[in-house]
Amino acid sequence: MNTAPRHLLDVDEWPAEAIEAVLDNASRTRDAGERHGNELLGCRVVLLFTEPSTRTRISFEMAARSLSAETYLVDPASSSMVKGETLVDTVRNLDALGADMVVLRHHRAGAAWVAARYFGGAVVNAGDGWHAHPTQALLDLLTLRRAFGGGADALRGRKITIVGDLLHSRVARSNVWTLSRAGAEVWVSGPAAWLRGYSELGVTATPDVDAALDGASAVMGLRVQKERMRGSSLSIDEYIDRYQITDERLARAASGAFYLHPGPINEGVEVSRSVARGPHSLVLEQVANGLAVRMAVLALLAPSAPRGLRGPRVDFSHVAR
Ligand code: CP
Repeated sequence: MNTAPRHLLDVDEWPAEAIEAVLDNASRTRDAGERHGNELLGCRVVLLFTEPSTRTRISFEMAARSLSAETYLVDPASSSMVKGETLVDTVRNLDALGADMVVLRHHRAGAAWVAARYFGGAVVNAGDGWHAHPTQALLDLLTLRRAFGGGADALRGRKITIVGDLLHSRVARSNVWTLSRAGAEVWVSGPAAWLRGYSELGVTATPDVDAALDGASAVMGLRVQKERMRGSSLSIDEYIDRYQITDERLARAASGAFYLHPGPINEGVEVSRSVARGPHSLVLEQVANGLAVRMAVLALLAPSAPRGLRGPRVDFSHVAR
């Protein structure tokens, strides 16, 4: 690779060779079951999450520690952010403390780009508002490639359908880019008001979920947040009736079609329990792949000279004991 990227803000900013290097590395990790290395020895990795997270936060923390980093969690509820300290000032202070990497989940779209301007090390976007979730898209791509039993061309020409709350979904936006780049025929489906802007991304957007599912090789569900139904002309019961992925609906897809979901899942809303936990569900495989992908991302972004290992040791020999 000519120049390794400095940050991971979104997948569309990364060169193809960086994406392939991460997927290859992560796939090898899954095959080997090996989860230890020294790539981040001496590195201080700060996890700054202003939104709730289980999968992303724990897997980044496990990934960093598996590669011998020191990890520090900023709890927003007990940090100076509750006193009004801005993201910019928070990041500048983490920089002054000598952090090498910040893994940032933030409720505002674009937050990772702002952080990258004020932080001297690497920023990894762990999800910014409705905008992007690059490591989710990478782990979804790895999961599909491995499920289809192929390499870089495994998705070429396959129909992949994303169903659910596309309007508010950072996962969908990052996935549309990686899946399209991988040669998949991407369809998105949900209530018409949630499909705004998707046709411009070059995918087929339709409120007709049956058409979207017809012949699909894989179906990706998205969480439907009940509170977001308030502004919708559709009730939650109507959504369930028209869009829930059930065994009957999944039968419209290709035989043996896979079901994916980034989690957390509202079982009984966007998907039935029997599909979410059924034989074609890749949901927990996605989670396992997430750890391997996040290890590979952190290893790729590892500084050649961690700040924690740089500079002369302080000489305290003059201090009387
Ligand atoms: N998929 C995902 O981002 O899950 P968490 O919100 O639990 O991290």
